[in-house]
Amino acid sequence: MSNDQPLVIFTPSGKRGHVPKGTSVLQAARSLGVDLDSVCGGRGICSKCQIAPSIGKFDKHGITVSKDALSEWNSVEKRYDSIRGLKEGRRLGCQACILDDVVLDVPAESQMHKQIVRKSLDDTHVELDPLLRIEIIELPEATLDDEIGDAERLGEAFEGLGIKIAPLPLSVLVTLQDAIAKGKDQVTVLYRQGDVDALADIIAVWPNIYEGRICGIAVDLGSTTIAAHVIDLQTGENLASGGVMNPQIRFGEDLMSRVSYAMMNDNGAKEMTQAIQEGLDHLIGEITAEAGVERWDIFDITLVGNPIMHHLLLGIDPTPLGQSPFPLATSEAINLRASELNVSIHAEGRIYILPLIAGHVGADAAAVAYATAPHQREELTLVCDVGTNAEILLGDTNSLLACSSPTGPAFEGAQISCGQRAANGTIERAEIDPITKKVRFRVIGTDKWSDDPEFNAEVTGICGSGIIELVAEMRMAGIVDGN
Ligand code: FES
Repeated sequence: MSNDQPLVIFTPSGKRGHVPKGTSVLQAARSLGVDLDSVCGGRGICSKCQIAPSIGKFDKHGITVSKDALSEWNSVEKRYDSIRGLKEGRRLGCQACILDDVVLDVPAESQMHKQIVRKSLDDTHVELDPLLRIEIIELPEATLDDEIGDAERLGEAFEGLGIKIAPLPLSVLVTLQDAIAKGKDQVTVLYRQGDVDALADIIAVWPNIYEGRICGIAVDLGSTTIAAHVIDLQTGENLASGGVMNPQIRFGEDLMSRVSYAMMNDNGAKEMTQAIQEGLDHLIGEITAEAGVERWDIFDITLVGNPIMHHLLLGIDPTPLGQSPFPLATSEAINLRASELNVSIHAEGRIYILPLIAGHVGADAAAVAYATAPHQREELTLVCDVGTNAEILLGDTNSLLACSSPTGPAFEGAQISCGQRAANGTIERAEIDPITKKVRFRVIGTDKWSDDPEFNAEVTGICGSGIIELVAEMRMAGIVDGN
């Protein structure tokens, strides 16, 4: 192999591969699936991407690494080193480029710790009114004098109920006659009707009275995590909740880093679309198993996300959202077959995506507005949804304003010397005694506070929840003021 495609070997993972000469170490790590952290998306700010090159002859790997295997220190690294200091032998993976065969060690603190993803559902009263409905139909017996097909007989039976149905999809058509025969002309029909005048879409037909589950999933597609809840659409019961890291993180921690990745790489947007669709499908597999239902018991998904997640999920290039006036491809709600997004649920399962509000104020903010309804309150109400991107709503019955702002990567630890993402050992709670100013804290992985004699957790850093609580406690204890 010529030196235009140097070999890079990462330790301790042992992952290796050839990359084009000049590729940054961070890019090489991403393309080889190496666990190398990056909070600032490669802008040389967070220092989470540190690696240590090894120089010399490596018989085990069959290569010799020269001291010029990586590019020289650039101005970003020099600046970082002068301000915060880089440990001897360390380089910033996002700045150092691979020029020749090289062995790179990823120190423990640069390996992404397994993030704790917590998404619970606070049960508020929700009136159950799904678009999916069930009807038990008794079909008239077929006779020799009656020449219409079974699908048309079903249509006539629905017309008798005042409902017009759309032509049956093939997946229903192939099961119809078997269901009618097994049910001796009695079938359970699941259909979806957007509004009373619209044609009803037949989703499934079962013999007799169907006693299986009919479930839906609510999904919040966040920049850092994807959260989902499995809901029984007949009882409203929340059967399972879960979350996974958004796999797009390897392309950039925050939204703008991902837009840059799409701008700077020919297939960047496509790679991120594939990653998010796979991540969503993976999460659905996990939570359906936890809920004790099958994928084909899921008939509907309702999904929200910020505009960049929305566009990337749909395979829409997000680069116009990278600059003013931040035009959206569409702000309307979207109805799709789940299969169009490579998500495996019931063959006729649908995905409904809520409308976007504006450039960077997405369907997640629309969902928060819908759920908390500040526009129905007399008193002025402020609603904050703080994630990697924060959405803020302010309003009352007169008007409602919405805006958004990036909050990550600060809450994930960038430029905070001991900041890190939520993982075992991270401080997530803090309390300050307003009189003595004594601090106590709690870390993820134990329910003991630091002043408990039995507290013996290893503390690794502080995460966003810890930072927010600490600032609030400092304010209440009079250590910082309102500014
Ligand atoms: Fe390299 Fe942040 S400093 S990714």
